[in-house]
Parts: sequence; C-alpha cells; structure tokens
Amino acid sequence: MKVMAPQAAAGKVLWHFSMSLDGFVAGPGHAMDWLTGFAGRDGVIEEYTSTTGAVLGGRIGWDLYPDPSTVYGGAWQGPVFVLTHHPDDAQPAEGVTFLSCDVAEAVRIGLEAAGGKNLEVLSPSIGRQLLERGLIDEIDLHIAPVLLGDGIRLYDNPGGPRIPLALLNDDEHAGQFVEVDVRYRPVAAHPVTP
Ligand SMILES: NC(=O)c1ccc[n+]([C@@H]2O[C@H](COP(=O)([O-])OP(=O)(O)OC[C@H]3O[C@@H](n4cnc5c(N)ncnc54)[C@H](OP(=O)(O)O)[C@@H]3O)[C@@H](O)[C@H]2O)c1
Repeated sequence: MKVMAPQAAAGKVLWHFSMSLDGFVAGPGHAMDWLTGFAGRDGVIEEYTSTTGAVLGGRIGWDLYPDPSTVYGGAWQGPVFVLTHHPDDAQPAEGVTFLSCDVAEAVRIGLEAAGGKNLEVLSPSIGRQLLERGLIDEIDLHIAPVLLGDGIRLYDNPGGPRIPLALLNDDEHAGQFVEVDVRYRPVAAHPVTP
C-alpha cells in the first residue's frame, strides 16, 4: 500500500481525525477507548505536531477533555480555540480561548494564530459547518481497524448535502475521484492489549 504523502504546514484548514472503518470518530457517549492499542504509522505524531499551528474544537470535546496538554498526548503545544454559545461557564485553561462567533470568524482567528502552519479542526460538528461554507482545505483520516456501529459520526448531516471528495494520497491519484481499497478480516478479540 502506498504511504500517503506527509502533511505540510501551509496555512491549511485541516479536518483531522482517527476514524473507525464505519465512519465514527467517537463511540457511544463520546467514548474514545476504542482507539487504544492500534499501531499508528511511524512518525505520524511528529508529522502533525510539526505542521499544526493552532487547534479549533467545540465545547463538547472541551468539556470532555478540558486540558490542552492532552492534544497529541502532550506532544503539541500551541493556541487552542473552543467555539461555544456560552463561553461564560467554560472551564478556563492557559492557552485556550473561548470563541462565541461565526465559524468563519473562528477560522480566521485560528489561522492568524497558526502563523502560517495549519489550523486543525478537531470537531465533527464544526467541520460539518465549515464544509458547508467551503472552508475546509483538506481532510486527513487515520482509519482504525474496527467497526463501532454507533457513536459520533465524522459527518452527521441527515438531509444535508453530499460532499464529493478528491483523493490526495499520492501523485498518481492526486485530485481524482477514486475509491480506496482495503481488506480486513474480523478477529475474535482485540489483538493488542491497551
Ligand atoms: N477520533 C478523533 O481523532 C477525535 C479527535 C477529537 C475529538 N474527537 C471526538 O469528537 C467529539 C466532539 O465533537 P462534537 O462535534 O460531538 O462536539 P464538539 O464540536 O466538540 O462540540 C459541539 C459544541 O460546540 C459548540 N459549537 C459548535 N458549533 C458552534 C458554532 N457555530 N457556534 C458556537 N458554538 C458552536 C456548541 O457548544 P455550546 O453548546 O456550548 O454552544 C456545540 O454544542 C468527541 O466525542 C471527541 O471525543 C475525536
């Protein structure tokens, strides 16, 4: 399998997630335990910590993990922006700014803070709103070898528009509307103990 070209710091608005094969970025009740124990590509953390200048998240994600040092397990430090309709009752933290504004304005503020690096959008709901405004530059997904069946979808938009995507994995397919082939088999138990 060809390895995807590394992400580059270029002032992009990047929607970036680990996702189950069936399209969930969190399990039921926002559970994230399904992500432990999977092997990631070599150097993947360094790739994103070095290209990310700022992070934009939503209030649910923040309330679940109200600690900016959990971003990339503490391997990344930088400005974090949290969008909310009620910033007054948010738990404050150093380096975290609560925004109550239009999503496009939140992106403008985040990109300015990113200083030429990428603004990572770590929220499914904000990403959906930005897609509808044409404000997502790229979508990077790490597909975990698991089917969850329930949880928080990457793109949850019943009745909303279909979003066609062009593949950017490698030069051969750059910009093309092509499928990606994967092959798995079900295993009886999680192969790696967290
Ligand atoms: N798999 C991964 O790699 C990964 C990475 C990061 C996060 N996650 C998961 O993603 C989930 C969180 O995402 P989510 O989409 O459910 O929730 P979210 O985006 O974290 O939070 C949604 C909330 O953000 C605020 N918000 C969103 N759009 C807004 C707008 N336009 N203006 C003002 N406020 C706005 C609202 O908060 P108010 O109600 O305060 O107004 C809204 O209720 C969590 O389960 C988290 O664990 C997964």
